[in-house]
Amino acid sequence: MFKKITFSFILISTCFLACNSSKKETVVSESDTKKNIPQTKPSLKNNFNNDFLIGAALNTSQIKETDTNAVTLIAKEFNSITPENDMKWEQIHPKENEYFFDVADAYVVFGKKHNMHIVGHTLLWHSQLAPWVNEIKDKKKLEHHIEKHINTVVGRYKGKIHSWDVVNEALNEDGSPRESLFYNVFGNESYLELAFRLAEKVDPEAQLIYNDYNLWKPEKRKGVIRIVENLKSKGIKIDAVGMQAHWSVEGPSIEDIENSIIAYSELGVKVMFTELDVTALPNPWELNGAAVEQSYERYEGDLKMDPYRNGLTDEAKEKITKRYEDIFKLFLKHRDKISRVTFWGVTDGQSWLNNWPIKGRTNYPLLFDRAFQPKEVYHNVLALKQ
Ligand code: XIL
Repeated sequence: MFKKITFSFILISTCFLACNSSKKETVVSESDTKKNIPQTKPSLKNNFNNDFLIGAALNTSQIKETDTNAVTLIAKEFNSITPENDMKWEQIHPKENEYFFDVADAYVVFGKKHNMHIVGHTLLWHSQLAPWVNEIKDKKKLEHHIEKHINTVVGRYKGKIHSWDVVNEALNEDGSPRESLFYNVFGNESYLELAFRLAEKVDPEAQLIYNDYNLWKPEKRKGVIRIVENLKSKGIKIDAVGMQAHWSVEGPSIEDIENSIIAYSELGVKVMFTELDVTALPNPWELNGAAVEQSYERYEGDLKMDPYRNGLTDEAKEKITKRYEDIFKLFLKHRDKISRVTFWGVTDGQSWLNNWPIKGRTNYPLLFDRAFQPKEVYHNVLALKQ
């Protein structure tokens, strides 16, 4: 039995806004011009056009378009984007009366220019929260600031950001409520109700998502069901469950993922895989999902923990390829329930998994290599539809 290195996972989507972004790009080669046969340019977004949106998380240099190689790839391959860090509370609202919208504004312009489905990530999360919010002990005061934050941020992008990760990671691994600042100050899970209510009020058209890692876990699944049922029973809008999908070559099992897809879908919400990546690197500990605050400095520079720094072995490459094939076969099987599949990054070189949970390793978790080229696994994933 492998140790379950529970990384996070996710997913989702309802393409109600995606329709525009799903137009096929056509290119006509010289010989085709002669034969007058237009060809569809192969790309992830074209390939899965009738199945689900295909997204990528963008870092700051991609959003600002200084990383031109990545921008070319993003425009060609993806029809949905998520900001990897630039809309988190500590970035966008670092001080009580100070908002920093420059990068977020550029992000929205980028998505509009490329006719993409634009995701907002994330409104309430205990991690990467501005330090001044962490100091708040009084419930009324926290309610006031949550309201101001959501009104301001969702309001600014009303009609422009199509879906919001409203609350991120509110659950412990056993499905009980995480004792975050929000939970502790409110004394219960009602802060979720407030956040979803506010988001809907500000932008009734936006798709609202609960997002978390390890949502394949049966125990954690119960927590999601509790949250969604509670919101729905109070008439509060929730459209989708986002399964982060930070997975490994070893696990979780396809069966566990499938059971969660079905269970969430039966609640009457869409399922999205919001942060997909597949790590091949060793992790000797039972990690607590994708809790970003965990890092293991003592393993930095330990070559045993970084076995593929000079390249993948054929065996490791095959494992990753097979894993991605299994994952996408499952996604296709449940394409009626899944509205979006977003990769957490664009190329291997830019993935957060080179630095988490151990800094400075060489990982291969995505479909494009360090030279911005599609990997063999990319072609295998495309071929599942042919
Ligand atoms: C990660 C980013 O990729 C890193 O650059 C950052 O240092 C930490 O956060 N769950 C989430 C994402 O919802 O926002 C996290 O992103 C990964 C885990």
